[in-house]
Amino acid sequence: MLYGSMNQLVSFIEWFLEYYLPPMIANASPVLVNGRHRIDLGYMFIDGRPLLGAGKTWEGLVVGLYMGFLASIPLYIYFDNVYILLNGSIASLTALIGDMIGSFIKRRIGLKRGDPAPILDQLDFALMATLYYYYVAPGFQQRPYYILYSLLIILLLHILTNNIAYYIGVKDRRW
Ligand code: CTP
Ligand code: MG
Repeated sequence: MLYGSMNQLVSFIEWFLEYYLPPMIANASPVLVNGRHRIDLGYMFIDGRPLLGAGKTWEGLVVGLYMGFLASIPLYIYFDNVYILLNGSIASLTALIGDMIGSFIKRRIGLKRGDPAPILDQLDFALMATLYYYYVAPGFQQRPYYILYSLLIILLLHILTNNIAYYIGVKDRRW
């Protein structure tokens, strides 16, 4: 009984890391580089507000992508599946695009760079990565509860890590 639940827990954790570690690493890395070159090139949208804002930079995008790729390497070795390198990298890119979509939405509703948008801030990247896996990764969509648990864990982890980043000084806001 206990052995069975342990096995289930381990298989969930393996599944979670296989799919979500690269996008999580990709999403968390850009904050470390202090990028200067805005992805939106400073352009304004038709509403007169920044397209994405100063919090989305090319440096952040490149570093996020690279770190997501690096995070896929131990997974590729552990699961002995070369497709994880490809999937992890694409999911990382998808996650970073999701984060940009989140910023686009925030600017449209008038929120400034770094203003909190609960749920959107924590899940924008994960939802886009999920969408990618859902339509591309064979077998992924057969685990709806795993997907749900994963998003919940990411939500909690995100809140926890942002607080830590704030207290050690790498982020100037708690969200
Ligand atoms: N970052 C970056 N490039 C990216 C994503 C993030 O340079 N593509 C950096 C920025 O310094 C950003 C920080 O990581 O401030 C934290 O990211 P995030 O919380 O997503 O950005 P916010 O500053 O909160 O901006 P927004 O309100 O647009 O979400
Ligand atoms: Mg933010």
